[in-house]
Amino acid sequence: MTHINHKDISELADEFGTPLYVYDKQRIVENYNRLNNAFVKNYPKTKIHFSVKSNSNVHILSVFNQLGAGADCSSPNEVMLAQKAGFADRDIIYTGNYESYDDFESLKNFDVKINLDDSTSFDRLIEQFTPDIVSFRINPGIGRGGYEGITTGGTDAKFGIPYEFAGEAYKKAKQHGIARFGIHMMTGSNNLEPYYFAQTVEKLMLISKNIFDQIGAIPEYLDIGGGFGIPYEDDELPLDIEKTAELVTEIFAEKCQKYGFGEPVLFLEPGRYLVADAGWLIAKVTGTKHSYKKFVGVDAGMSTLIRPALYGAYHRAYIYGKEGDDTVVNLCGQICENSDVFAKSVHLPVAEIGDLMIIRDVGAYGYVMSSNYNNRLRPAEVLIDNAKPHLIRRRETFEDLLSLLP
Ligand SMILES: Cc1ncc(COP(=O)(O)O)c(C=O)c1O
Repeated sequence: MTHINHKDISELADEFGTPLYVYDKQRIVENYNRLNNAFVKNYPKTKIHFSVKSNSNVHILSVFNQLGAGADCSSPNEVMLAQKAGFADRDIIYTGNYESYDDFESLKNFDVKINLDDSTSFDRLIEQFTPDIVSFRINPGIGRGGYEGITTGGTDAKFGIPYEFAGEAYKKAKQHGIARFGIHMMTGSNNLEPYYFAQTVEKLMLISKNIFDQIGAIPEYLDIGGGFGIPYEDDELPLDIEKTAELVTEIFAEKCQKYGFGEPVLFLEPGRYLVADAGWLIAKVTGTKHSYKKFVGVDAGMSTLIRPALYGAYHRAYIYGKEGDDTVVNLCGQICENSDVFAKSVHLPVAEIGDLMIIRDVGAYGYVMSSNYNNRLRPAEVLIDNAKPHLIRRRETFEDLLSLLP
């Protein structure tokens, strides 16, 4: 591999240094259009909210704003980043988790949709203000994700209200004078199975009927979360998004009609599907060694990309300009942790110091989860638009680390 969006990777490394996150704008646009078209042609009142937590660079958010998406935010700061990227409040949905009084206080002056994690969240919210419309995140009792750490529904999940108790939360909101409602779920990330989405949506519809019958209202929107996966490994098949959209919208429309919901908006909150395969991490080989095993070390690490260390996630890697799979190595970073390994027993061409290592599918949950561990500096980010690279975040400096000290 030598190019990203027609731009030579070694030129990028020379110009911007390493480690470096590189994003392909055209790939992001393609991903968005594929997902949006698949749903909108089956259910025109579908609206995508890009999940800001997956990649919160304001310049990436602006791309989604220009495409007509909304923003799914998980903290007040993400809401403010979305606003900075040009999103109007009406196109922002905030889903918190154990939301604090301070979180709600920060949202007081904004007119964003608030999706609450629990009925106790509602108690804290109304001490600050009463919004026009409220939704609750329901745990439908089932969940599935690519790893345990990204499974967000089911009995082990810390998120949402168990569906059995959700009616009480809506009743409380209604008694407090709320007259407009939505409902939300997000049961797991990186799912590649269309029928899984259909199954969870069917359950959400049934749960919704039960809840909205109890309070004598209908939902203005049903938000089925994100979770659309991408293949991280060669032998995985991509998610069939046409099939997923067909199955989901068929159940959605049929149940909306059956339960008298009219035509509510169908919200989606994808992150990974839209940006993961549009991002690459470029790192430089800093050392190779033959210990009990063979190791290749690069100038990035779990501080740059934590997914492998955190979940055991796998990312394919290539060496710039070299082909073949002559060696089996553990590809690791420079961080002082034995879990700082990008890939174990991976087949690569023979690596030499100075080679560029290209780690793919890092556009989601990459930079956003980076840290200063070992006092390493966060990398720069570049967005390539039609072969033209734009620096969208400069590399951190040692002075940045010092700048927070009194
Ligand atoms: C509430 C919520 N919405 C959307 C997402 C985005 O998920 P994904 O990147 O799998 O599409 C997440 C991710 O965890 C989430 O928690």
